[in-house]
Amino acid sequence: MKVLVFSASNHSQSINGALVGYAAKRLQVFDPDVEIERLDINDFEMPIYSIDREKADGVHPLAQAFFDKIGAADALVVSFAEYNGFVTAAWKNIYDWMSRIDQKVWQDKPFVLLAATPGPRAGDNVLKSQELTAPFFGMDIKGKYGVGTWREAWDGDALTKDEDIAGVDAAIKGLLS
Ligand SMILES: Cc1cc2nc3c(=O)[nH]c(=O)nc-3n(C[C@H](O)[C@H](O)[C@H](O)COP(=O)(O)O)c2cc1C
Repeated sequence: MKVLVFSASNHSQSINGALVGYAAKRLQVFDPDVEIERLDINDFEMPIYSIDREKADGVHPLAQAFFDKIGAADALVVSFAEYNGFVTAAWKNIYDWMSRIDQKVWQDKPFVLLAATPGPRAGDNVLKSQELTAPFFGMDIKGKYGVGTWREAWDGDALTKDEDIAGVDAAIKGLLS
């Protein structure tokens, strides 16, 4: 199984990047045959989507490239940073561009939703926003978990709390059943 993983954040020290990297390692513990491909959304930075830009130049090639990466994967694990209760603008721009290729951006792939936040709410709003819209965008959710109070929850290499370890494990095991 080929699994595409990324943090939906352009932060160089992304805590969601740390979480998604951890989740990918755990997935390989449970199934050593899993192949992980990890993307950095900074490699897909484009001008802000506009209908006028699309009319003038068509869909940006980096949007097609990202869309094709999703298409080539068997499953996805994505950790969403929460900005003002929603996804980051950096991610939303890529998402808007890709939605012009096909509204089913996630292409009905089995999907694990993660989030990490410095505060205690563990990305509740961004996770809810993604769950709410999942059916319209072909996101087939198999697991979900948010890690809050990141500074206590992460030791620089791994999750520290039993509850979080169990939560992430249960979420990613959704891809294996
Ligand atoms: C513009 C902005 C808005 C934010 N809004 C929220 C928020 O709504 N909820 C939250 O828990 N954290 C919020 N934060 C804090 C982020 O969760 C924090 O910066 C985190 O590191 C983002 O994840 P990342 O490191 O993976 O980019 C916000 C941060 C910024 C810069």
